[in-house]
Amino acid sequence: MGQAPFDCLVIGGGVIGLAVAREVARKGRSVALLERRSEPGAEATAAAAGMLAAAAEAHSPGPFFDLARRSADLWPGWAEQLFEESGVDVEYQGCGLLRVTTSSEVVGDLEIRRAWQLAQGLEVSGLLGLEELRREVPQLGPDVVAGLHYPGVAHVHSHRVAEALALAARRAGVRLHLSAEVTGVRPSGDLLEVSVGAERHFAQRVVLATGCWGEPLLRGLGVSLRPEPVRGQMLALRPRGLPLPEIVFGDHGYVLQKRSGLVLAGATEERVGYLAETTLEGVAKLAAMARSLLPDLGPAEFSGAWAGLRPFLPSGPVIGPLPQDPRVMLALGHFRNGILLAPVTAQLLGEALADGQEPAGLTAFSPRHILGG
Ligand code: FAD
Ligand code: GLY
Repeated sequence: MGQAPFDCLVIGGGVIGLAVAREVARKGRSVALLERRSEPGAEATAAAAGMLAAAAEAHSPGPFFDLARRSADLWPGWAEQLFEESGVDVEYQGCGLLRVTTSSEVVGDLEIRRAWQLAQGLEVSGLLGLEELRREVPQLGPDVVAGLHYPGVAHVHSHRVAEALALAARRAGVRLHLSAEVTGVRPSGDLLEVSVGAERHFAQRVVLATGCWGEPLLRGLGVSLRPEPVRGQMLALRPRGLPLPEIVFGDHGYVLQKRSGLVLAGATEERVGYLAETTLEGVAKLAAMARSLLPDLGPAEFSGAWAGLRPFLPSGPVIGPLPQDPRVMLALGHFRNGILLAPVTAQLLGEALADGQEPAGLTAFSPRHILGG
């Protein structure tokens, strides 16, 4: 580029990198974002169902549940801001979610889940039988034995989120470089040098938001984290019957309806390396799961299927400055919840970048805490 160093360079243009870049630019910093693909949000972000479902995704009380709830609370305002900044409606739908089970052995787990969630102040129904659940979603099939109702859960359209974020980031001044694969990050005097092949970019701060692909860059920085790709396949259907009023989240997958009418049935969890492909086996499992929860989907028209690679780290999301060089910040490992966690990740990293301090909300997720140092 040959220009003055940026205050901040973000590597990776998925939902996390885009959200962080926009946030930092809104604080008046000069920001560039480097994305390897020819369009932003083309990897895990594009594959996502867009659920903002802390209630169904968190398995115990603790920092992850708190972070997820905090982000879910930020989402309605975030969706409005993104609309104002980009003109793109991310289709925020606060429709509610039924966490149902088709196995009597899981009913006890639902009761345990309900007890700790109530203690945390989450809005959740008592344990409901099939007839009570059908008052919310009349299409539920007879395999469903019990469930919980979460009226507050919402979902968004993940493609529109990426589109809105990219436009809003540009409007805030972010220089978006597409088809720009970063091959190295290293200290260079007071600055950080970021290589894209033979090109060199310089910045005061660098944020790694590379999804499940960051390992070579992390290794170069002496960091032992290895984000693992966990494939998720998704099936899309055009139903013929009544609209599906809520997200139906079962033991082996979930079904929800987008504003366009498209029904999504997701998602597999497979450790197959970097193969973002759909398989007959994966799609057949999703079809069986969807029909078991909602038999009316049987005659639905097949609309498509896709897969994405979720970025998994055993410790959960890792967000914040590296202990060995706090000028390098990580925003990795959002696994099943990157769409949900984007607003809070951006807010907390934005604070860390602006103040040079680690916000209290990041302690449990900070590289210092997770890697030691
Ligand atoms: P990505 O979206 O993968 O983005 C990383 C980006 O970095 C990519 O664009 C990549 O090209 C770029 N990159 C990598 N290396 C380099 C490099 N060296 N140089 C430049 N660019 C680079 N989450 C939810 O909250 N709700 C859901 O309902 C939900 N459903 C999901 C369903 C499926 C099927 C899948 C697969 C995921 C789902 N997720 C969901 C998870 C969510 O999609 C991810 O957590 C989120 O997209 C992660 O965002 P990210 O920006 O970290 O990664
Ligand atoms: N959060 C839903 C999924 O990752 O499939």
